[in-house]
Amino acid sequence: MPQSNPAVAAHSKSIKIVVVGAGSVGVTTAYALLLSGLAAEIVLIDIDKNRALGEVIDMSHAAHFAQARVRVGEYEDCAGATAVVVTAGVNQKPGQTRLDLIKTNYKVFKSIIPQIAANAPDTILLIATNPVDVLTHAAHRLSGFPVERVIGSGTAMDTTRFRHELGKHFGVNPRNVHAVIIGEHGDSQLPVWSLASIAGMRLKDYASQKGIEYSQDAMDECAKRTRDAAYEIIKKKGKTNYGVASVLVNILKPIITNGDALVTVSRVGTYGGVEDVALSMPCKLNRNGAHQDVPLLLNETEREALRRSAESIREVLDQLEQD
Ligand SMILES: NC(=O)c1ccc[n+]([C@@H]2O[C@H](COP(=O)([O-])OP(=O)(O)OC[C@H]3O[C@@H](n4cnc5c(N)ncnc54)[C@H](O)[C@@H]3O)[C@@H](O)[C@H]2O)c1
Repeated sequence: MPQSNPAVAAHSKSIKIVVVGAGSVGVTTAYALLLSGLAAEIVLIDIDKNRALGEVIDMSHAAHFAQARVRVGEYEDCAGATAVVVTAGVNQKPGQTRLDLIKTNYKVFKSIIPQIAANAPDTILLIATNPVDVLTHAAHRLSGFPVERVIGSGTAMDTTRFRHELGKHFGVNPRNVHAVIIGEHGDSQLPVWSLASIAGMRLKDYASQKGIEYSQDAMDECAKRTRDAAYEIIKKKGKTNYGVASVLVNILKPIITNGDALVTVSRVGTYGGVEDVALSMPCKLNRNGAHQDVPLLLNETEREALRRSAESIREVLDQLEQD
């Protein structure tokens, strides 16, 4: 239903958001955004114009209830957009290597990103296409935008899943679990156990106060289910769309409302001593983009895992840059 918060309503009047890629992730994001009431205008761009048009006609009937305009656009329509969400690209095909997928989506980005940047030099790019860290780095290079204005959805999705898993385990609302997944949106991601808390208490202390057993094995299972969630969903339904769409809207909200919210997103920087890579750390999000507010106080094991995660992304970037 439309957002009833007057502060949000005041912001939304002039807000245009463009979604590039009208596939599963793109249209579910556009639909979630439509129902959020955060934007006055949503523009869908896709190489398959017919597909985008069909989605827009269908969604415009929902827009009737949501007081926002949805339409098909061209890259010129990015002008004046508060943010452009990029979901265009392909998913991994059977027999295709991860590097093949990267090369294909990098080609897609080479055709898309310069067009967005030329038409909307002041916008914020929000990247969802996978591999999201590598493509956030590519979007930064291809746009020439400052690092703050090129944001990858990164481990915002994994952090949401992680809090969901821990909330289920401890029997509390996931919103009351403070825990993050940082690093790569992929296999080298890491849970920051040393800083995880519920009601201001470390997980171990919370469990002991509650009179339940704390086991690191059970915690590791929560982290494993988080890391493998996408594989599990894709095995069953062939794609993921609802979780990521909600996460993308949750990233757009503080950008639109200048909310200074802390969200774990991907951004180009130096991590664990590895320079010029994009990966996720908690960032402060507002109308100027993603800002690395304060460094996380990681323990030595976590610092080492973060370095390994950064190195694995750097290796892929090196392979890509050789071509
Ligand atoms: N970051 C995350 O957490 C997350 C979660 C789920 C999916 N994804 C990724 O999002 C991407 C999209 O997934 P999907 O399920 O929506 O795929 P999809 O195949 O349903 O949609 C992709 C769309 O991109 C369009 N497209 C392809 N090339 C284009 C171009 N050059 N210009 C404009 N449009 C173009 C296609 O026509 C299609 O409509 C994939 O890379 C997927 O891996 C990311």
